[in-house]
Amino acid sequence: MASAIVDGLVANNPKQGSEIACYSASGISAAALAARTQIVHVSDLPELLENADLVVIAFKPQHLGSADSRLAELTRGKIVLSILAAKTLDHLARVFPHARNIVRTMPNTPSSIGAGITGWTARSELTAEDRKQVIQLLGSIGREIEVPETKIDALMGVSGCGPAYVFEFTGALRDAGIAGGLTSEEAEQLAVETVLGSARLMARSDKSPEDLRNEVTSPNGTTHAGLQVLEKANFRDTMKAVVAAAKARSEELANGA
Ligand SMILES: NC(=O)c1ccc[n+]([C@@H]2O[C@H](COP(=O)([O-])OP(=O)(O)OC[C@H]3O[C@@H](n4cnc5c(N)ncnc54)[C@H](OP(=O)(O)O)[C@@H]3O)[C@@H](O)[C@H]2O)c1
Repeated sequence: MASAIVDGLVANNPKQGSEIACYSASGISAAALAARTQIVHVSDLPELLENADLVVIAFKPQHLGSADSRLAELTRGKIVLSILAAKTLDHLARVFPHARNIVRTMPNTPSSIGAGITGWTARSELTAEDRKQVIQLLGSIGREIEVPETKIDALMGVSGCGPAYVFEFTGALRDAGIAGGLTSEEAEQLAVETVLGSARLMARSDKSPEDLRNEVTSPNGTTHAGLQVLEKANFRDTMKAVVAAAKARSEELANGA
């Protein structure tokens, strides 16, 4: 995820590379990232943070507990932006008690190709300048949306886990195509391109998903026949249960379960 952010920032503004520095525990991934993108690699935390204004925390959530204790003092007066799943603002504030502000974000996997949607929330009101920095950074990996922290678990259930639902749907559409007589190659190409094209159409259109659905559904036609099966199988209720389960699990993880 850190690589995706750097890729996006450098692609948008190549000169910015010299203003970004990276550090990782073993140094291996940070060295590789710096070599690939021409950002600065440092092997020392104080050196990393001395002149930094905004610090992105991008290690695994389970490493927060054992993070370098010097981070508390070294992030004094800086904005800390965390991409750690399930780590609340209160939890982050205990690790970074002197930060100027803390931003909790929830990106999703399409962020790795600049096509993500990141939900975010700040510990306290951001100044106009800090807000601009945060939005610019998150904009480097796709779209961003600010929500109150109380909505982060629901957002996790929709956009954080959503790519997996779409992959699962696509695999199911492919398998249904195979059952209908297509080869696996034919069915996979048809399923993937259909999902991609439909997503692009939705993104470009002002119409709701339901309006677009209705436009391709003639009364008693083929799509109508297929949609009736989805309705009988309670597709919408199933999706509600799917998102509710992910939201509940996200709440459990945030509470340390
Ligand atoms: N992948 C996603 O789509 C996604 C989506 C939403 C949120 N996230 C969040 O993004 C974070 C990173 O996920 P990822 O998939 O990018 O993980 P990853 O590829 O495993 O990268 C983790 C990075 O953390 C570094 N690291 C490990 N321990 C460290 C420490 N104590 N101090 C400093 N650096 C350390 C590793 O560097 P070295 O190995 O070189 O030490 C590595 O560069 C996670 O918190 C996850 O919850 C990911």
